[in-house]
Amino acid sequence: MKERNPTGESPEKKAAGIAAADLVKDGMVVGLGTGSTTAYTIAELGRRVDEGLDIIAVVTSYQSEMLAIRAGITLTSLAEHPELDIAIDGADQVDADLNTIKGGGAAHTREKVVSCSAKRFVIVADESKISEQLNHYVPLEVLPYARELVMGKVRKLGGDPVLRLASRKDGPVISDNGNFIIDASFGVIANPLEMSGTLSQLTGIVEHGIFTNVDEVYIGRKDAPVQIMSK
Ligand code: 5RP
Repeated sequence: MKERNPTGESPEKKAAGIAAADLVKDGMVVGLGTGSTTAYTIAELGRRVDEGLDIIAVVTSYQSEMLAIRAGITLTSLAEHPELDIAIDGADQVDADLNTIKGGGAAHTREKVVSCSAKRFVIVADESKISEQLNHYVPLEVLPYARELVMGKVRKLGGDPVLRLASRKDGPVISDNGNFIIDASFGVIANPLEMSGTLSQLTGIVEHGIFTNVDEVYIGRKDAPVQIMSK
């Protein structure tokens, strides 16, 4: 069972999130990911902005927008800054080749747009997210109108699709883009690049949570220094 301290903080996520903030330098345009690990990066960048770090940032969700505003980070848009120097984001699972599954926070569509707009894409995660091969469910952002179509196509691929429900379980999770999320389990994904291409071709899927564009992973470990995996 995963240990947590009484404040709900994760020292491993915190260590990874803060270590990656070191990559951000004066004058950079930064993509800010979503989730509890990236929240540490955003807080740390805010602290450094207070000390004089000069950056602007693009967010990936309303969650990261609120955190960045609270941290005092100046925000911009991809329309104004289509090329980012770096994007830092969390992960649900990362394999030995840095293929990554994201979307646990239903933000993977904007996260993928931001990561593909960045010259360098860095993942921050605790060690529980690292796996030899990907076997986590793949979040699929789908047009609400197309949900049954997508569920059927996922079953034909041998997957097990589940519509993600809000915590009170009386309605679906709605993404920041107004869409539904289907979590599709495929067991071990032997060829993530191929699965990524297959899912990209399914009508009704706005974006899937397989990322094959990660450059580096900062891994927070229990009682050990942050480990960096890179391609
Ligand atoms: C949001 C994501 C998150 O980055 C991912 O779920 C990891 O979250 P956390 O850092 O809270 O474990 O992909 O869509």
